Amino acid sequence: MNRTHVNGQLRISDVGKKVTLIGWVAKRRNLGGLVFIDLRDRTGITQILFDETFTETVKNIRNEYILEVTGTVIERVSKNPNMATGDIEIKAAEIKIINTASQTPFIIADETDALEETRLKYRYLDLRRPNLQQKLFTRAKIVKAMHEYLDANGFIEVETPILAKSTPEGARDYLVPSRVHPGSFYALPQSPQQFKQLLMVAGFERYYQIARCFRDEDLRADRQLDFTQLDIEASFMTQDDILTMVEGLLAKVMKDVKGIDVKLPFRRFRFTDAMNRFGSDKPDTRFDLELADVTEVFRNSEFKAFEAGLTEKGAIKAIVVDDAGSYSRKDIDRLTDLAKKNGAKGLVAVKYLNSELEGSAVKFFSQEEKENLIRILQLQDNQLALIVSDLWEKTCTVLGVLRSHFGKTLKLFDSETYDFLWVYEFPLLEYSPEDGRYYSRHHPFTRPYDEDVSLLDSDPLKVRSYAYDVVLNGYELGGGSLRIYDCDLQQKMFELLSLTKEEIEVRFGFFIDALKYGTPPHGGLALGLDRVAMILTGSESLRDVIAFPKNANAKCPMSDAPTPVDEKQLKELHIRIEK
Ligand code: AMO
Repeated sequence: MNRTHVNGQLRISDVGKKVTLIGWVAKRRNLGGLVFIDLRDRTGITQILFDETFTETVKNIRNEYILEVTGTVIERVSKNPNMATGDIEIKAAEIKIINTASQTPFIIADETDALEETRLKYRYLDLRRPNLQQKLFTRAKIVKAMHEYLDANGFIEVETPILAKSTPEGARDYLVPSRVHPGSFYALPQSPQQFKQLLMVAGFERYYQIARCFRDEDLRADRQLDFTQLDIEASFMTQDDILTMVEGLLAKVMKDVKGIDVKLPFRRFRFTDAMNRFGSDKPDTRFDLELADVTEVFRNSEFKAFEAGLTEKGAIKAIVVDDAGSYSRKDIDRLTDLAKKNGAKGLVAVKYLNSELEGSAVKFFSQEEKENLIRILQLQDNQLALIVSDLWEKTCTVLGVLRSHFGKTLKLFDSETYDFLWVYEFPLLEYSPEDGRYYSRHHPFTRPYDEDVSLLDSDPLKVRSYAYDVVLNGYELGGGSLRIYDCDLQQKMFELLSLTKEEIEVRFGFFIDALKYGTPPHGGLALGLDRVAMILTGSESLRDVIAFPKNANAKCPMSDAPTPVDEKQLKELHIRIEK
């Protein structure tokens, strides 16, 4: 078309130029005989000035019409310092209406009071809003930096199948019925885990892929059903090599996208230390408020609330909050509810006021316990100690949730800080009392510490693994591990996970087989691309950085997917729906 410039481009130095712009009408104002129209495209907005000669032509122009305007760049009388093009405007000489537009259900502007459901229903209009467009541009920049870094470091991009076989990443599979094999199903990949390992067996040494993953799980602000990973795998690298390589990648992303130099190397925390100090395996370390262990203070206590914490696998821990005087009974009840919602049986709250401990639990403390508690927590006047007693991990997790709660409500951190860290040395397994079996903490391909392999039979929960997560500001950005490359150990791992020999053969036979043919030591990691984009654009939800996301109800409000299908299609797939 005739366009000479884009709408975010012209500056005072362009005054006098004859230009042709194309764009959507963002706003129109009438001022006496003059009409001002803001013309918008993906680069920004330019103000166009139409004098009286255009009165008839522009009379019927509405928001979101597409115009082609030719005119001269002139200096504005009243400049707008908030706009990149705010020093100039275009005095129109010609106008062409390229297309008309119906009235939109909400105004296309950064600020909107439209409900998210409406915005998602008309997502193509929502995506016209400049701030949402910027988020997708930022996302694309992130991906570009990733490609550049990995390419420069000898990684090759390989695509893997979408119609695949179940991969055990811990969520439910999306199944796709096969028409040609009645009763058989493909599973959409929860991740390309097994394929990337097979590419290592095949000798590619360094693989990556911007991979779509599908997990049928309950949605949260940081979870979608279909999401994207930057998936990486490498051979002949130590855990340290992999962490350093990923740090370099994230440092480049931060530099290219945000102009920020992040400090390398990232801090590294063992899983147990992260849990003990922050009550989370994805701690937000932009603020302190660390957990303190008070198990020994209450070692001889008969207080019922402390019973679980005093068992062999238990722990009693506390966090201390300032300004206790301002906490009412109701506030404490609310904190207790939050603790209970996260699995605690209760929450012990004691205030330290005028050198005395106060609270309904204090009558159960001996003088010595009181003194030791004050000493260990270094309590200062007007502070509140919140104490949880349970099995170790539960105690940590509940206090971790309370810690995050205070981090947010007391605004203990600067939202412009980016605090990357690693959590490593995760336990290999966890036990589910309900199911009476072990589950992998990461996935079944994760390699146990060599020196712990002998514990697999005697004390599996003590086995540590070469698994690691990269964490940013309290979000798990990515996770990975070194892998098992010995077929016998892989077989044993599946058995530990309560799979029968037949199940192992049917589900993973091909994979175990592949490990027999000279498998290199290998490992890798996957970064949640949507999460990286969400944090770097300061968004509250993954939905803001995904062009066409599902809502919290697992639906696409625009297309209405998922929807019923024709009887004929079902028949072809050999499927009958039970009413
Ligand atoms: P994992 O399951 O930890 O590891 O996933 C890696 C990263 O993917 C992101 N992620 C999600 N993002 C949005 N919505 C979801 N539902 C969702 N689930 C996960 C997270 C997470 O850290 N195959 C292994 C990786 C490996 O071992 O190399 C895997 O998928 O940011």
